[in-house]
Amino acid sequence: MNILILCCSPKRRGGASRYIASAFSHLLPGARVRRVSLAARGDFAAAREQIAWADVLLFSLPLYVDSLPGHLAEFLEGCRPGPGLDVYAIVNNGFIEGRQCECALEQLGHWCSRRGARWRGGVGIGGGTMLAVLGRVFPIVIAITLALAAAGMVSSGQVPEGAWSGVLTQLAVWAALISPAALRLLGLARALLKRESYGCRSARVLLPALIFIPVSDIFMCLSSLFRGKLIFTLLGWGEKSRKNRLEAGNGLDKCAE
Ligand SMILES: Cc1cc2nc3c(=O)[nH]c(=O)nc-3n(C[C@H](O)[C@H](O)[C@H](O)COP(=O)(O)O)c2cc1C
Repeated sequence: MNILILCCSPKRRGGASRYIASAFSHLLPGARVRRVSLAARGDFAAAREQIAWADVLLFSLPLYVDSLPGHLAEFLEGCRPGPGLDVYAIVNNGFIEGRQCECALEQLGHWCSRRGARWRGGVGIGGGTMLAVLGRVFPIVIAITLALAAAGMVSSGQVPEGAWSGVLTQLAVWAALISPAALRLLGLARALLKRESYGCRSARVLLPALIFIPVSDIFMCLSSLFRGKLIFTLLGWGEKSRKNRLEAGNGLDKCAE
């Protein structure tokens, strides 16, 4: 079975949709899996070619304004898949409620019914950005703990007290936070491998909104600071956003930046 995963975020590097697509591809043993980026118009032709190769197509995309990213909507308009293609999707969003992605899943379902493809359902994941950040931060934290334990062992000849329990706690916290999304993705992978319907389901990072909101605010400020855009973020609209609006006709390329 040929499975094509289309990563539909305008971000060329990093990003939650890419992270989720990459993690998901490891849940598909025995299938031929290709991951292809659909980040802007320049990718449309290659993506269409790859769809012709696929038996199953999975979209991994971010939710934009409760809908599909603009370039994906444009791509879908011009895309006519052959009959018999099974289509699934994973939509992730920034807010914590994965249910917000239902609208985008429904849109993909409508596209399938108009184009003769079989809509098999998908998952909406709330807190997609956080899921991706956790997936990058926890392995680093665990590696540092293990390196410190190894250094302690070299100097004192025995594993420092609490090193193993530290690693186990970190693994347990990570597993707990991602468990609802991970279980949904496992279910989706199982359905996909059998080419069965999965319905439209949602999951979220396992954090109460009360904690999620301040944590994501702090994360946004820190990531803006590292990219030199803290002032831009605090003011809300700076020179760059004004420029983007002036060049709205070129919105696709600006989005990808
Ligand atoms: C233009 C734009 C619109 C967005 N609209 C929503 C939205 O309506 N609801 C939401 O929960 N998140 C929204 N987000 C947040 C993204 O869905 C979220 O950050 C996602 O994880 C990004 O995935 P990516 O890193 O793969 O691009 C929006 C982000 C952008 C840039």
